[in-house]
Amino acid sequence: MNKASCAAVLAALAMSSPVHAQALFSGETYAEAAAARGQLAFAQNCSMCHGADLSAGPFAGALKGAVFEGHWRGKGGSPAVLEFTQARMPPAGPGSLGGPAYADIVAYIQKANGAAPGKSDTPAAAPLREAANSGRPPPTVPADAKARAVLAARKSKLDGLTAVTAAMLETPPEADWLIWRRDYQSLGFSGLKQIGKANVAGLRPAWSWNLPPSQNEMTPLVHDGVMFVQSGNSVQALDAATGEQLWRYTRPLAAAPG
Ligand code: HEC
Repeated sequence: MNKASCAAVLAALAMSSPVHAQALFSGETYAEAAAARGQLAFAQNCSMCHGADLSAGPFAGALKGAVFEGHWRGKGGSPAVLEFTQARMPPAGPGSLGGPAYADIVAYIQKANGAAPGKSDTPAAAPLREAANSGRPPPTVPADAKARAVLAARKSKLDGLTAVTAAMLETPPEADWLIWRRDYQSLGFSGLKQIGKANVAGLRPAWSWNLPPSQNEMTPLVHDGVMFVQSGNSVQALDAATGEQLWRYTRPLAAAPG
């Protein structure tokens, strides 16, 4: 791509990204008591994936901030989020919390996304209400044995990563892909022998993984059996053999100016 057309693409991208000054649900109201119950229900049922305060966790994205706003702006407001959540969340048991708890959780999500307090409360499940009104902080959910084993296995894989040295960048280990075209000569050549002319026709997909939406075409980097992928404002470490996500960091983006 020459410089002129590159500039044209950048200009088009800049024009196509809408600028929003207002928070996602700024035109809506919620009930404080419902949001308090929702925070508790969220801690018990959702935080293990979405993070303690809606700000992304080990298995799912944030339910506030720029990416979430991008998914839901102009899609019908919090009722649409409620409908989605009840139909799809938690993934292992959609609808399993019962209607009032979902409404409470969405009040909590509204609160975090700019809705105003003041709506009158619709009471939800009694035990949750009691706990929410008790003044105690919401309980954190202890991971079960299976979850602990999975997290420990991921941690040990990551702990096993060796430091990358300048010498390794000069002469990468055969199994690694440390920079864009693999070496400073930009040869993009791998010395690995397992795949060759004789068997390349028989290759099959081993795993696949959805990346967060983004406009880039990145090159995965590989080191010590861990594959690092970047997409948009997130970086993930995947087990290169299985595709399992080991770690992820999503950089919070500042709200678009204007
Ligand atoms: C086991 C992990 C897991 C749990 C538990 C879970 N979620 Fe999710 N959630 C996901 C994943 C993964 C996605 C994104 C994929 C999808 O859209 O199905 C998602 C997507 C969402 C979205 C849409 C986010 C967006 O940016 O558009 C909402 C809203 C949501 N979850 C709410 C909840 C609520 C509320 C709970 C608790 C009742 C919950 N989730 C529990 C994994 C989880």
